[in-house]
Amino acid sequence: MKVLGIESSCDETAASVVDVSEDGSSARVLSDVIATQIAEHAPYGGVVPELASRAHLRAISPVIRQAVDEAGGWSNVDAIAVTQGPGLAGALLVGVQCAKAIALARGLPLVGVNHLQGHLLAVYLDRALVIGEKPAFPFVALVASGGHTALYRVDGPRAIRELGATRDDAAGEAFDKVAKLCGLGYPGGPVIDRLAQKGDATKIPMPRPMRSKRSLEFSFSGLKTAVAQWVEKNGVPPEGGGLEDLAASVQAAIVDTLVRKLVAACELEGVTRAVLAGGVAANRSLREQCARVCAAHGITAHVPPAKSCTDNAAMIAFAGATRLFNGERSDFSMEVRTSWSPAEA
Ligand code: KG4
Ligand code: ZN
Repeated sequence: MKVLGIESSCDETAASVVDVSEDGSSARVLSDVIATQIAEHAPYGGVVPELASRAHLRAISPVIRQAVDEAGGWSNVDAIAVTQGPGLAGALLVGVQCAKAIALARGLPLVGVNHLQGHLLAVYLDRALVIGEKPAFPFVALVASGGHTALYRVDGPRAIRELGATRDDAAGEAFDKVAKLCGLGYPGGPVIDRLAQKGDATKIPMPRPMRSKRSLEFSFSGLKTAVAQWVEKNGVPPEGGGLEDLAASVQAAIVDTLVRKLVAACELEGVTRAVLAGGVAANRSLREQCARVCAAHGITAHVPPAKSCTDNAAMIAFAGATRLFNGERSDFSMEVRTSWSPAEA
């Protein structure tokens, strides 16, 4: 079955056609087109919802056309999967309405997909993982992105349980807010990742809230405050003169917390497979530390390549396929869902 996936929940307009294996367990990516709005939002240091909707409206038709052309044309599309939520309402509406129009015009089955379910299943796309092999079920996954930071136990595509989530900022949001404070541009994660490579993480102590092993919740808003206070006192150091140490200290605080909670979740659940998902999973230090600490605790780490971690439509097409295989369809009254746990999807 070949599924066209459409994603427009935040600041990437994406479309992809995937060819799902007969048993529905994996998918070959035939096309994977992404129009990013980063330049649009960069002056504001974060995503501006109305600008996002307008940019999706401009990009969505050409992005879909390119994805379908690269996959060999409409005769190669059997069904449509679209991100129904969670995300920005005005952004989601563009993708959902476009998907409905195509399904109506071409008489194709349509299914709404939970964006986080997409992230959780992205590890099954037919792409070489950067760490480990495709995991069997069950696994514990950390989804860390600009909008979400949560741990899930995944026993199957439709058997997902939330174990803990952030009480305030998401991990990616913490990277972005710190970068904004330091005038490093948007998105902050990749810049801090680069700078931190040359920094000393022990130079500037940063808080690591919610340390208790029993709690699987996160809190990152205190980190932003700590950096703001440090910068107010010391100023933003220049590159080559301490900025790298600040980046490394911030990154270490975020990464230590994420890895500690991921391992704690695996141990509490008695699960020996850990998966990283979401844009922050592109972070080099997170990947390395995750592999190292997991190994020390007898847990296998499974880390997909960056293009499967950041927002994309291939993961939406595959997650949609697991629903279509289950006989699920959405009708033309489908609404968008701005907040929607994958455990309830
Ligand atoms: O999953 P994603 O593409 O979009 C959302 O659903 O939010 O994640 C984007 C987030 C941004 O906050 C960005 O700063 C962060 O992922 N990010 C990184 C890295 N690359 C992207 N954070 C840390 N290190 C990176 N290398
Ligand atoms: Zn995402």
